[in-house]
Amino acid sequence: MSLPSNNKALLFLFLFLFLSPLFSIYSAAAHGGGAIDPQQFKEAPEFYNSPTCPSLLNTSTDDDSDEGDDDVICSETAIHVAMTLDAAYIRGSMAAILSVLQHSTCPQNVIFHFVYSATTSDASLLRATLSSSFPYLRFQLHPFDASAVSGLISTSIRSALDCPLNYARSYLANLLPLCVRRVVYLDSDLVLVDDIASLAATPLDPASTILAAPEYCKANFTSYFTPTFWSSPSLPLTFAGRSRPPCYFNTGVMVIDLDRWRAGGYTAKIEEWMELQKRMRIYELGSLPPFLLVFAGEIAPVDHRWNQHGLGGDNFRGLCRDLHPGPVSLLHWSGKGKPWARLDANRPCPLDALWAPYDLLRTPFSLDS
Ligand SMILES: *[C@@H]1O[C@H](CO)[C@@H](O)[C@H](O)[C@H]1NC(C)=O
Ligand SMILES: *[C@@H]1O[C@H](CO)[C@@H](O)[C@H](O)[C@H]1NC(C)=O
Repeated sequence: MSLPSNNKALLFLFLFLFLSPLFSIYSAAAHGGGAIDPQQFKEAPEFYNSPTCPSLLNTSTDDDSDEGDDDVICSETAIHVAMTLDAAYIRGSMAAILSVLQHSTCPQNVIFHFVYSATTSDASLLRATLSSSFPYLRFQLHPFDASAVSGLISTSIRSALDCPLNYARSYLANLLPLCVRRVVYLDSDLVLVDDIASLAATPLDPASTILAAPEYCKANFTSYFTPTFWSSPSLPLTFAGRSRPPCYFNTGVMVIDLDRWRAGGYTAKIEEWMELQKRMRIYELGSLPPFLLVFAGEIAPVDHRWNQHGLGGDNFRGLCRDLHPGPVSLLHWSGKGKPWARLDANRPCPLDALWAPYDLLRTPFSLDS
């Protein structure tokens, strides 16, 4: 199919109107935040599967040549990646997507699931922006009804963490199609420099393990919960029966078995802790502690190379962080500072130079081929 370029907008509109009823109905409530212009990002190159990649489509069972959406989404060979998408972090998301594709052996087998706030007025712009920078990307947009969770959020010490979309990672099992059985969740402030298929293939013990993430057992686990929590006679017993000593893990990079999550009702377990937090303050941060409460000591460990976190450092003191020792497969600018903001302000940290090559923002000086 080829279309003259002035028909591209029509095509976007068509895709939007055609696909949106599959997911939900958009509410167009006005919402503050940066406006998005699809033209502000450059087009990424097309990435092709290597000859060794398994086919996403099952040609033996298909009578018509059309790629049915369900066939592709539900393919056993697809690698599913979930991220959130909003106007504030879209520059980071675009860089993360590019990095995933660029380092994949089978980029055409990667299917992205973008969760956005159902109350945003930017839904069609988010779709148009993705489609214009990644015309060949396989993706679905999933609206997240933030009002369901906003009543459960108690204010934390870092207000940026209170954004309802931050909690979407707890709802992936409900948001993604049922045939999606495993997903890699990624934050928007990171880039991969290795094949996401290796991360997605992390073994999860079928008997018990719901998720995998790098663990940090040297971090002071006690400090993630308040004295109120630790002085309660019952609450600390939460961690008593765990397979291993509970350790901190960062929820910005996780491999989740969605089948087992659904079967075990883990979203409700996380919500129970959030309800308790509303009544008595048991932790200080946002969406992380409920994950620790439910999963710490029960997760499958992932090599630390897959979450070199903390590179966002500390804006207040202008502190730049260094990499942790060891190999690197994923760089994560968690923390207050973001590489795009520091680059724009002409005050980058040394490691921000590793993010810059994935930046798709069109600059006045960029040459478009
Ligand atoms: C294709 O279909 C067969 C039979 O239904 C199944 O065993 C196989 O796993 C499918 N392959 C893919 C790539 O989905
Ligand atoms: C860990 O944190 C708690 C509470 O923040 C503190 O009381 C304790 O001394 C810390 N332990 C270590 C080993 O630093």
